[in-house]
Amino acid sequence: MRSRRTFKLLHIALLLPIIYDPGSVDILTERKSGEPMARQPIIQQDGGGRRGDGGGDSPSDIPLNNSAGNSAEGSFDADDARYDDELRPQRLSEVVGQRKVIERLKIMLDATQKRGEPLGHLLLDGPPGLGKTTLATVVPKELDRELQITSGPSLSAPKDLLPYLTNASYGSVLFIDEIHRLPPTVEEFLYPAMEDFRVDITLGDGLNARTINMKLQPFTVIGATTRSGMLTAPLRDRFVNRQHLEFYESDDLIAIVNRNAKKLRTTISDNAAEEIARRSRGTPRKANNLLRWSRDFAEIKADGSISHQVVVESFRMLEIDDVGLETQDRKYLESLITIFGGGPAGLKSIAHSIDIPPDTLEDEVEPFLLRCGFIQRTPRGRMVTAATFQHLQLPPPRP
Ligand SMILES: Nc1ncnc2c1ncn2[C@@H]1O[C@H](COP(=O)(O)OP(=O)(O)O)[C@@H](O)[C@H]1O
Ligand SMILES: [Mg+2]
Repeated sequence: MRSRRTFKLLHIALLLPIIYDPGSVDILTERKSGEPMARQPIIQQDGGGRRGDGGGDSPSDIPLNNSAGNSAEGSFDADDARYDDELRPQRLSEVVGQRKVIERLKIMLDATQKRGEPLGHLLLDGPPGLGKTTLATVVPKELDRELQITSGPSLSAPKDLLPYLTNASYGSVLFIDEIHRLPPTVEEFLYPAMEDFRVDITLGDGLNARTINMKLQPFTVIGATTRSGMLTAPLRDRFVNRQHLEFYESDDLIAIVNRNAKKLRTTISDNAAEEIARRSRGTPRKANNLLRWSRDFAEIKADGSISHQVVVESFRMLEIDDVGLETQDRKYLESLITIFGGGPAGLKSIAHSIDIPPDTLEDEVEPFLLRCGFIQRTPRGRMVTAATFQHLQLPPPRP
């Protein structure tokens, strides 16, 4: 018994230098040599230090490590992340809207704290800019636990994930953004880590192959995805808590705009805040970006305060219409009408015809058009509706 344990420890001791040394044999990787290594995780040790300090005024206090720069496809644009962080709610009490999700989350957090156990794995899904990263960063702060952040596209092989797992302390949170883009090998490596808090490492191959189990501290994975449908069933099943984020109601967006105008130290009239909210496509990130744009416009073209007229003129310049449709949304609808006779048309055909990647259409364009009732998704493809003709002021097709 004892000798077996010694043998195991010996193996781990032998294995670790191999895993952590990028120059050595890549046992856990499928990556071709010469490609960059994923950076080591940065742990955000919050320790409740920011409790009650109002938060949000210090940009970039959440280290969005390990994503930008690691993959050309990584979703974090450095600038975006910086802007997001500046206005990102720091505590659950600052999070506006999503009442049902927040209510359920509070119960989970209270129960977790009462029992002193780690939170069950949590999956957040919904279109971009609705608060997935925000909630994932707020949860560990509420629990007073550490947070590590990574994303699906930046984990190209199990060895990229391993440091995050071994670094995870008891009850800490590992946030995996865009979890639907985890490569299958990494996903399989994650299964036992999520289920039994262990990792299985295979050494060698063929007859000499050996598997070593390494115990991990119980921790929580928070996954975020814009495409829950792309998640494999085994991965989805490992999340005991699943929450879907919806587009925001106008009142919530108005509250977000007013609060953030204060943070940005700018003045805004009530009807200007309403106008920004109306054209933000139900999305806080859009509301924040439009608020920033109106502030710039007000400073250069007006007296610095954001009035209704400033908003209307500044949005005209951005070519955002009264319901929030932008140029690419209109291009989508117009091509569906003019090229495909109103549909049904496949996503890829539409994407090719307007030269926008299908992923962008599916993630950023279609959810809002569907919500407004401007398109329908049928088994045969996408179709426009009567509301589209009305909105674009086009004559409806003859029956
Ligand atoms: N519920 C909310 N209350 C207030 N602001 C929010 C909320 N959700 C999102 N935001 C704002 O929108 C920005 C983008 O949100 P984020 O969490 O990064 O979206 P996602 O990860 O879903 O793409 C945040 O920086 C934050 O300022
Ligand atoms: Mg995000």
